[in-house]
Amino acid sequence: MIVAIDGPAGTGKSTVASTLARRLGFSYLDTGAMYRALTWLARRDGVDLSDGPALAVLAHAHPVSFGADGHVEVDDEDVTAAIRETEIDRLVPVVARHPEVREVMRDRQRALAVTGDSVIEGRDIGSVVTPGAEVKVFLVADVDERARRRTNDRPGVEADTLAADLRARDERDAENTKPAPDAVRLDTTDLSIEQVVDRIAELVEASR
Ligand code: DC
Repeated sequence: MIVAIDGPAGTGKSTVASTLARRLGFSYLDTGAMYRALTWLARRDGVDLSDGPALAVLAHAHPVSFGADGHVEVDDEDVTAAIRETEIDRLVPVVARHPEVREVMRDRQRALAVTGDSVIEGRDIGSVVTPGAEVKVFLVADVDERARRRTNDRPGVEADTLAADLRARDERDAENTKPAPDAVRLDTTDLSIEQVVDRIAELVEASR
């Protein structure tokens, strides 16, 4: 079974998806981490972020791998922390918008999805990557609440700056943020992680 969890930055996707996967005993795939790792690689190798075909070649040559403990690796290097830097937050939409890049990512994500029961999080999972997913959820939340949540992951960055960054990212990510028409929309503004996970677990039970 595939559970697709999509939504903009800061809606709780990663925490919800990884917690749900653990609870269900499903594998967990963070597709945003794949775009982030490619952005990190392009910076390391000096590849022009406006060159879609060159970025696609880079993605092919250096596939990202995920450790069982959630670590993200490229070329045997642990990039788990590096890909969460603010600079990567700002640059990743530039990389993710190239159709050549999305095609490589989509194919890899599909290949990983067919290996068993999985919870997959991203922006276009229920609509483009795995439109046949049995459960599809689209998470949304108020932007100020999303910025408040981010302050925990980005200590030292002001909440106002984070809110402005989130608005800018929403705009840049809009093109690739595609809710599936049959996704269940969940507003997480006033919900705890546990409440969101419970709600999605109910949808999983109902679809079995
Ligand atoms: O969810 P995140 O913040 O880690 O995502 C990082 C970036 O990757 C974000 O700019 C949107 C993009 N992304 C995408 O275009 N498609 C996906 N399936 C996942 C992420």
